[in-house]
Amino acid sequence: MAKRLQARRLDGIDHNPWVEFVKLASEEADVVNLGQGFPDFSPPEFAVEAFQHAVSGDFMLNQYTKAFLTMAKRLQARRLDGIDHSPWVEFVKLASEEADVVNFGEGFPDFSPPEFAVEAFQHAVSGDFMLNQYTKAFGYPPLTKILASFFGKFLGQEIDPLKNVLVTVGAYGALFTAFQALVDEGDESPIQKGEPDSSSNWQLDPTELASKFTSRTKAFILNTPNNPLGKVFSREELELVASLCQQHDVVCITDEVYQWLVFDGFQHISIASLPGMWERTLTIGSAGKTFSVTGWKVGWVLGPDRLMKHLRTVHQNSIDQCATQCQAAVAQSFEREQLHFGQPSSYFVQFPQYIQRCRDHMIQSLQSVGLRPVIPQASYFLITDISDFKNKMPDLPGAADEPYDRRFVKWMIKNKGLMAIPVSTFVSVPHQKFFDHYIRFCFVKDESTLRAMDQKLQKWKAELMP
Ligand SMILES: Cc1ncc(COP(=O)(O)O)c(C=O)c1O
Repeated sequence: MAKRLQARRLDGIDHNPWVEFVKLASEEADVVNLGQGFPDFSPPEFAVEAFQHAVSGDFMLNQYTKAFLTMAKRLQARRLDGIDHSPWVEFVKLASEEADVVNFGEGFPDFSPPEFAVEAFQHAVSGDFMLNQYTKAFGYPPLTKILASFFGKFLGQEIDPLKNVLVTVGAYGALFTAFQALVDEGDESPIQKGEPDSSSNWQLDPTELASKFTSRTKAFILNTPNNPLGKVFSREELELVASLCQQHDVVCITDEVYQWLVFDGFQHISIASLPGMWERTLTIGSAGKTFSVTGWKVGWVLGPDRLMKHLRTVHQNSIDQCATQCQAAVAQSFEREQLHFGQPSSYFVQFPQYIQRCRDHMIQSLQSVGLRPVIPQASYFLITDISDFKNKMPDLPGAADEPYDRRFVKWMIKNKGLMAIPVSTFVSVPHQKFFDHYIRFCFVKDESTLRAMDQKLQKWKAELMP
């Protein structure tokens, strides 16, 4: 790549003495490690028991917990300007203020993760007490090893667990690390978006896409299968992105957290597996979405060493370590999955089948009140067209300049007891007007939750009757 790869903020911090000395020690036989700050004995019994209780008690502790944003006065650095409002926090708070609201806004399952994952976590918590301590900075070795062998086959690469894999705090941690490592102020990173030409067919416009690549373009951010559209990008579309990245010497950062959740026989393709793309692609995944354990917050990045070394610089100067026991549980879950892969017993076969039924259930229910769901090919989510409501009741409460979908979701939470996420929140302000007639629902929910939705929608339907 002719362009400068590493972001300027990494200058002078790309050497880490911890990594250097731990590596040196690991290369010699029989070195006693008194350098790193962690106990090599078991934590107190009560702490171990508290963790075991968390792991084998309420299964919802495997999912995301609440995020609070509290800022009494303006303290923030300039880089936070414009991003200090979180629609998730806003809508979750709104929903919590009303009695009996069913939450379809946030993307997490409200049922137990698969038995083998729960057991893997219990094993990590009650087994080797050293799993309570730091592990290798760039990833727990059994995890980096299984990620390398598992994904190596799909990407058609010999993946080195030490050079081509980084374990992060969820896929969000991976995205953050990649942006910090490679993108400077003034660099451009187009984020792909779709334009609808029919309700179930969102296509990239080749001319518009090509026009987004300039000499300043450093990285292209791809998300397939896509949230919120549920679209699986086709080989032709990926080839178009790949050729633009190659033509303009651009890195592709691809978020593929929903790669196993594909329906109706569609096929996910990793752009890194296309000719010439491994060398310029960072592929991001999430154990949360892979094994229905969003609260474990284990993610990863796979890519060539020349890109990964800059991500390691960010990681070693910020997070440095991810929770060892969570990593051990993910490693064991992948080891189990590798044994079953491609067979009917595979979680990656069974889970999408189950979730496809949830999707179909939700589609039928939403249609019953005149909502028009766009059928997703993959992911946790579907978006629903609310144009008919926009025409019938354009004057919902809210500020005049507030996008309609936001006002609609607020109204729906208050009056119908259902929470979704307005799609305009995914879009930059100038483009919000094109997306203010869509809202997003998560259908990865227990049958009882979907039935609770049915009841609310039946009531809504009865109110619509003349
Ligand atoms: C496309 C996409 N990427 C990343 C994430 C976050 O993944 P994680 O929880 O592993 O950070 C989400 C969560 O909803 C997502 O939809």
